[in-house]
Amino acid sequence: MCGIIGYAGTEEACPILLDGLERLEYRGYDSTGLALFTKDGGLLRLRAAGRLSALRRCVTQRLEQGADLHGNAGLGHTRWATHGAPTKENAHPHRSQEGKYTVVHNGIIENYAKLRGELEAAGIRFASQTDTEVIAHLLEQLDTGNPLETLRRALPRLEGSYALGVLYHAQPGTLYCARRQSPLLAASCVRGVLLASDAAAILPFTRTMFRLEDGEMAQLHANGAIFFFDAQGRALQKAATEIARHTTAADKGGYVHFMRKEIAEQPECLARTLAPLLSGGEIHLGESEAALENPGGIRRVLFLGCGSAHHAGITGRMLVEELSGIPASAELASEFRSAATAVDRHTLAVIISQSGETADSLQALRLAKEKGARTLSVINVEGSSIAAESGSVLYTRAGLEVAVATTKAYSAQLAALCALAARLGALRGQDPARLRDFVRSLAALPELAREVLADTEATAHAWAQELQSVQHAYFLGRNLDYATAMESALKLKEISYIHAEAYAAGELKHGTLSLIEPGTPVVALCCRPEVIPKTLGNAQEALARGAKLFCVTNRQNPLPERCLTLPPCHPLLVASLAVLPMQLLAYHCADLRGCDVDKPRSLAKSVTVE
Ligand code: AGP
Repeated sequence: MCGIIGYAGTEEACPILLDGLERLEYRGYDSTGLALFTKDGGLLRLRAAGRLSALRRCVTQRLEQGADLHGNAGLGHTRWATHGAPTKENAHPHRSQEGKYTVVHNGIIENYAKLRGELEAAGIRFASQTDTEVIAHLLEQLDTGNPLETLRRALPRLEGSYALGVLYHAQPGTLYCARRQSPLLAASCVRGVLLASDAAAILPFTRTMFRLEDGEMAQLHANGAIFFFDAQGRALQKAATEIARHTTAADKGGYVHFMRKEIAEQPECLARTLAPLLSGGEIHLGESEAALENPGGIRRVLFLGCGSAHHAGITGRMLVEELSGIPASAELASEFRSAATAVDRHTLAVIISQSGETADSLQALRLAKEKGARTLSVINVEGSSIAAESGSVLYTRAGLEVAVATTKAYSAQLAALCALAARLGALRGQDPARLRDFVRSLAALPELAREVLADTEATAHAWAQELQSVQHAYFLGRNLDYATAMESALKLKEISYIHAEAYAAGELKHGTLSLIEPGTPVVALCCRPEVIPKTLGNAQEALARGAKLFCVTNRQNPLPERCLTLPPCHPLLVASLAVLPMQLLAYHCADLRGCDVDKPRSLAKSVTVE
């Protein structure tokens, strides 16, 4: 999941590429680079290991050395390493041996080793360990003098995924691009043409853009003209996408980190997500209901997603079964793709994804469709690939989420899934009074969330001071609290690098209890009223082995240990509230440990490789 930006037009390309990379850096940030057509017709390449700031320093140094970085066309890239360490040599753009082709790439070329062997046998000397460099040399080997024809010949030789930006040495004002699975957008405006791996880099220029579909190629001219082609090289007419909301790159709004700002935004995000769905004490999903037609024909709901989105799916599964009575399950998208999960036209597949570009989730969507399922996706980024390919879309309205660790988008997913479960219940004739009571509580969730965030930060920070130096932590819960435990463990480990595990509270004694030693931190989520007594019993078992116990509950001080008390709420909304102090706990732990809260090592915001 790298970030790609290309520009050709009337303005200086270098600052545009650097600003574009700034907007894309959250996609991957272990090395960066750019290639510029300079005024003298040359193709200058600058690359640096590390964050974008290193590339900016490199540009400054070259300018101070008198380099001429004027030019109106070029490509930029910010990398999340897949093949080869994050070094300058492995940074994109990559160049063919004679310099005819310069390439930036997002994706994985699965047969790169075979192609590399063939190219080396033909005398090509590689300068990097990347799969991407293979593409540059292959293009040069197949070069016909017409880059589009050369791409048409070369692309079928590649197995795997790609979003490609390509410069051809003899065409200084022209960009080429091609897409298979990894997202790629193209746009034209008065200032020129752009290509990018997501809308954030294009929005400062225009909200009208074109999404390339698998197999498509495009030729973008500095005069603003864009030509699209299919895999056979035939001209295509494409409809533009209008990105309705101006999701400009956020600023931190006075907070030290984007993550802390996004945690604080959650009450507004919940309200924005729920507002279009609530009417007259009921839930209506508008055009998202296309997938719910003939509700009697839905015999199963299958939630698919990765990471936090999977935890939202586990929560959604419980909500759907409790509110609608429809059997439901949640599977990891990456696992679903190789499983023999029974899916047919009676299955409603719900794909959950903040970015709408996660490769595993996109492929799981395609597989569910192939198997005949109706598809509804719960998405935060408008115009994303999963949204474009789903039968219907239920948008979370969390706004641009920059921090790699999701918070506001996750909470908005839970709220959207509450609404979906309630709507399915209503369509299936479930008890109207019970549903109205739930919907009334759901409508009050934003204010409750505001209260929880205000009332729990001090305790979460105090707990973080106790946890900041531990190496392991365990989160326990049952039912909805178990889903919250999973999300809490992921939040803590992905940004503070403390090893954290979530356990079904009843499972601890079946093995993992042997790891609990005096002082081992155990966080017990005790919020679902029906199961609090059992979870407290499991917490006592850990306590008896010397655990340092932290209890999150909406009961009054059930244990003498550290207790964080939440306001009472509808039992089916406990997951939406309990996760909030856990986000704060993870945030403060990471901050106290001096970690890069917004850009944790080795991660990226949108995982567009499988
Ligand atoms: C969440 O904090 C993680 N950054 C990660 O697990 C994320 O939820 C996962 O990669 C799925 O991303 P998506 O929602 O954009 O599909």
